[in-house]
Amino acid sequence: MADLRTEFCGVRFKNPVLAASAEPTLSAENMKRVIETGAGGLVAKTVTDSEAMRRLTKMSKWRYLDEQHNVCRGKIPRLFTFYGRSGLAEEPPEEWMGELKEALAAAEQNDCVLIGSVGGTTSENWAKLAKMVEDTGIKLVELNFGCPHPSEMKGAQTGMLVGQDKNAAAEITQAVVRAVKVPVIVKLTPQVADVVEMVRAVKSAGASAVTIINRFVGFCLDVETGKPYINGWAGVGGPWVKPLTLRWVSKVYTGVGIPITGTNGAYDWKDVVEFMMSGATIVQICSVVMLKGYSYLAEVIKGLDDFLNRKGYKTAQEIIGVAARAALSYGEMESLPKEHAVINRELCTDCQRCMRSCFYNVIQLQEGQVVISEECRGCGICTCVCPVPGAVNLQIRG
Ligand SMILES: Cc1cc2nc3c(=O)[nH]c(=O)nc-3n(C[C@H](O)[C@H](O)[C@H](O)COP(=O)(O)O)c2cc1C
Repeated sequence: MADLRTEFCGVRFKNPVLAASAEPTLSAENMKRVIETGAGGLVAKTVTDSEAMRRLTKMSKWRYLDEQHNVCRGKIPRLFTFYGRSGLAEEPPEEWMGELKEALAAAEQNDCVLIGSVGGTTSENWAKLAKMVEDTGIKLVELNFGCPHPSEMKGAQTGMLVGQDKNAAAEITQAVVRAVKVPVIVKLTPQVADVVEMVRAVKSAGASAVTIINRFVGFCLDVETGKPYINGWAGVGGPWVKPLTLRWVSKVYTGVGIPITGTNGAYDWKDVVEFMMSGATIVQICSVVMLKGYSYLAEVIKGLDDFLNRKGYKTAQEIIGVAARAALSYGEMESLPKEHAVINRELCTDCQRCMRSCFYNVIQLQEGQVVISEECRGCGICTCVCPVPGAVNLQIRG
């Protein structure tokens, strides 16, 4: 058995798989169900002083969409799109603290880390909410600068409206860091030009860690009725968004040097590994848990353990950032050995599939046989489209 423990901001997690802040952590009852799965941790639903954001949760609407962006009925593909709207925790802050205390007691009994999440509307209220969370005994607090919905609402000056404003993000982070002793994690929005720049701003303001990253706002519609699903704009994401998230996880890992918790696009254990290899220490999962139920988290943990054992990793920690560290800059790639594609004549059927996808026009038919010229730069597309495994391969030029 590999050692699945990780350390994040000085707090030990029994494994790196967490339930993200969302409906599976909407109440003490729901949080207990996460805790029972053996998850390393969970982030409570975001508590807020915004009545508008509390009301929005009463009007929650979600749809899983298939690859054609039709609404799924029962059969949900691996690369689903989750299109939905909900607000923040429904209870006013004082009441919510009761839920947190109850969940915290259960978490502590099960060696599970409960992270509090806050979303205020003024610097003062962000600080006040974070302090209230700290006073419950919670050891880590996450600031939700990424909630997508405030951009579409009146009277909800929170979430990504903060995450898109470097000065506001820094000011609020600083106000919270001054008000609490526990490490402060900032959850950012992908809807900025440069996430790394935002990370630097909140790190300078005192953030101990970042969550990369909340969801986008999207627009999905039904061509038959000519109307948008669930009446309009909504948060959008799903497993397909993972490469966009991992770009920022890896960039923050290599460029800033701050602990990262990853979210937005993890479906299974392999995705957790990808998030970790890109630089995340712990990984938060939401929409697939909403699809498959709480117990699915145990499958993810088991899959991670099996992978580490199969590959001979002794600890989960040792995979953190390995792929990010292996990434080369475009400039560095210029000095790599040159590759070219080579046909294996024993396997090639001369179907010409490779020719149709060669846009450097270096594959020709000569006397009925596919031939690759010396001009080949080894882009590799022919190896992907060739229907016969091994019939065309990349080789280093001799
Ligand atoms: C229905 C729903 C509710 C959410 N509520 C919150 C929230 O209250 N606070 C927060 O920080 N993020 C919230 N999120 C974002 C999730 O925590 C998570 O970061 C996001 O869904 C990406 O992870 P996933 O790809 O595993 O779904 C919510 C997401 C969904 C789908």
